[in-house]
Amino acid sequence: MSKNHWHYPRTEFTDRTFKLLVNGPVSALRMFGPRRTGKTWFLTNDLAPRFEMYGHRVVYANFWQIVSSPLAVMLYSCDQALRKQTFAERLLQRVQPKVELSGLGAKLELDLTSEAEGTTPPDQLLWLDQYLDRLADPKKPTLLMFDEFQEIALASGSDALMAALRTGLDTRQDGLVAVFTGSSEAGLNALFSAENAPFFRYGQRWDLPMLDDDFVRHQLKAYTRSGGADIPFDEARAVFEKYDNSPMYFRDWLTVRLADPSLDAAAAQDAVEKAIEDSAGFRDTWLQISGPQRATLRLVADGVGQLFGEEAQTHLAGIGLTHRPTGDQINAAIQGLNRKKHKSIVKWQNRWHVRDSFFAAWVRRRGPEEF
Ligand SMILES: Nc1ncnc2c1ncn2[C@@H]1O[C@H](COP(=O)(O)OP(=O)(O)OP(=O)(O)O)[C@@H](O)[C@H]1O
Ligand SMILES: [Mg+2]
Repeated sequence: MSKNHWHYPRTEFTDRTFKLLVNGPVSALRMFGPRRTGKTWFLTNDLAPRFEMYGHRVVYANFWQIVSSPLAVMLYSCDQALRKQTFAERLLQRVQPKVELSGLGAKLELDLTSEAEGTTPPDQLLWLDQYLDRLADPKKPTLLMFDEFQEIALASGSDALMAALRTGLDTRQDGLVAVFTGSSEAGLNALFSAENAPFFRYGQRWDLPMLDDDFVRHQLKAYTRSGGADIPFDEARAVFEKYDNSPMYFRDWLTVRLADPSLDAAAAQDAVEKAIEDSAGFRDTWLQISGPQRATLRLVADGVGQLFGEEAQTHLAGIGLTHRPTGDQINAAIQGLNRKKHKSIVKWQNRWHVRDSFFAAWVRRRGPEEF
């Protein structure tokens, strides 16, 4: 038996998205949304197959997938899309550490494992332009999907790349359509709302609809088909809602129940929460940062507007912190949290935000003794 019965197709939304991009007045969408709601899944399991079914080429670049420069990721993904393999075959394929690209009457060797720092090589930008040109097709526009796109802005020396990409897309609007998404809403917002940046208000905002009861019913069927014992619908729906309608946690919960049928609903939830915490490495990050940094992170997670003044001090006192950081310490903590190593906060619309909303929720749950 395959695993396909677990996939819940978002048929109506896929139709709408496909039609808008292929026949509509826009050629780029930015899909923001809360974490773990199925953005990546939608792109790779619904939208890409739909484009491919109608004979369009599909590029999927995930800027987290490979530790390398964003430009290398982009070139690699474009190159893959021009090959004969189907999208599904490409997704299954292991990324090779070194790849040789050919074009422009020359060869270019990319090392996808080296973390490139510094500026973007101008000759490689020419390669990008050449790839976009080869991919552009006004009869069957190629779909470019950029996942974890916020990482581009965080990579050093990426301004030239962003400008080149923006120009490359603008000049080929009939032949290329794009969807931008990522796991950090604050990071993406910062990128698309920075006034002087190339992607300022670029594309149409496009929200992934929240999954509803139909999804719960569908997953319960898949669960029974995989051998699970009956779960009452209301019990399942309550769990789904508790996890903010996130398909992933609901699915983890069903998996725990499949693995250990003796667990009841609540015990399975405990197991899921423990697993989330361990896998996300939140505690590790917490242990690596200083006391003032933890307090500052909490202020940001709680959405306190003025980090240096009275409001912040009162807020921290309210949580029960006896050792409260001074304004200077908070200032230094912000710099530290925003540095490359953690980058746990980003500035957007003149306010700091925690990049990962799950981490923010985790920080909010810490008691005063943990600071
Ligand atoms: N339509 C669906 N049918 C079945 N399972 C789904 C569906 N959408 C999402 N899921 C499940 O939820 C998981 C998380 O989805 P996904 O990784 O796409 O979320 P995301 O919004 O991209 O998360 P992040 O914000 O971290 O990038 C998937 O791995 C899959 O198990
Ligand atoms: Mg994702």
